[in-house]
Amino acid sequence: MEKIVILTGAGISAESGLGTFRDEGGLWSQHRIEDVATPEGFARNPGLVQGFYNARRAQAAQVQPNAAHRALAALQRDWPGDVVIVTQNVDGLHEAGGARDVLHMHGTLAGALCASCGHRWAAPDDMKVGEPCTDCGAPSGRPDVVWFGETPYFMDQIYDHLAKADIFAAIGTSGQVYPAAAFVHEAIAAGALTVELNLAPSAVVSNFDETRFGPASETVPAWVDALLGKR
Ligand code: OAD
Repeated sequence: MEKIVILTGAGISAESGLGTFRDEGGLWSQHRIEDVATPEGFARNPGLVQGFYNARRAQAAQVQPNAAHRALAALQRDWPGDVVIVTQNVDGLHEAGGARDVLHMHGTLAGALCASCGHRWAAPDDMKVGEPCTDCGAPSGRPDVVWFGETPYFMDQIYDHLAKADIFAAIGTSGQVYPAAAFVHEAIAAGALTVELNLAPSAVVSNFDETRFGPASETVPAWVDALLGKR
């Protein structure tokens, strides 16, 4: 059966109330990437970085999945083949919407990571400077999110999935951050049909066979219904 690989970005969670990064008023217009999303920024000012992610964790805990998250979960449930969801998002809205086995390539706000020993555990609501590792005890706890200059997670698995994809869809992502922005090339090499669903054309839109523009809460359920033969 046909295998579908889906890449999601901040746009899929926008209508749940989580701001995107690069849209007007987005997170990167309010915070400097070098300060809050790099290992060097964390070394310079761990309090600022923990505070930034504590605030995002608190916000993510208050929001609900929207129709787009739920539609992808329904696709996973009802599609006769494999449906793999790869997300750049650090929120848990795919899972809250019912999706399974989501590959969080940029990590998750729900996790803490020990920068000394690599141990992972459930992040407390408020991570502190010098948060002790629950395994080795080092005061090296950091959010388990991938920062610029670090290697995203699950890359081998993701490339394996892309190499076998029959359909590849990118949803709510600006196509400006690599390696995710280049996944479409892997999918094309695999002979997949490529589909972009976004509010506005992304930076890599010319690579896609099919485009559906509009809010994810409308375009994603419509696309899923079309795939499942419901319209
Ligand atoms: P961006 O903020 O770069 O892009 C969000 C995309 O979502 C844009 O293309 C918008 O047009 C689109 N969009 C906005 N609202 C939408 C809606 N209601 N429905 C559908 N689309 C909508 O976010 P990402 O592409 O996810 O990484 O950013 C990629 C990575 O850059 C993030 O994972 C993060 C960030 O820096 C790290 O921090 C490592």
